[in-house]
Amino acid sequence: MSQHAAEAAEAALAAYAPYSRFRVGAVAVAPDGRSWTGCNVENAALGSTICAEGNALSTAVASGYRGPLEVFVACIDADRLDDATPCGNCRQLMAELQVTHVTVTIDGAESRRFTLDELMPHRFELP
Ligand code: THU
Repeated sequence: MSQHAAEAAEAALAAYAPYSRFRVGAVAVAPDGRSWTGCNVENAALGSTICAEGNALSTAVASGYRGPLEVFVACIDADRLDDATPCGNCRQLMAELQVTHVTVTIDGAESRRFTLDELMPHRFELP
């Protein structure tokens, strides 16, 4: 497992996921090596749930960072790699915040790396 995938898996251990029991961790990494972690934080009002990727990306923004990012996601409760790709909202956020690549992991052995164009073609941009 890469160092960043391991950090994402570690971040997933902090997930607050009592409703889905699907823990997710994410790490947003800048080209200079700075990184910001996040986990999913659920809510009884399910639509208010915060995804791990959004949490990590928001933390990067809150730190003052504005630049390209690579994201590592670990879905430590997923059985299949196909279940580990970011949701649509997070893909739009990734497009907004200059994410170039996303690596998804379900365990140490299985991971897949996507370009953002693969995950989010034809994304919305305000005219
Ligand atoms: N989740 C994430 O954190 N990231 C994703 O890209 C997809 C889903 C979380 C939200 C919720 O807490 C749980 O996984 C199940 O949907």
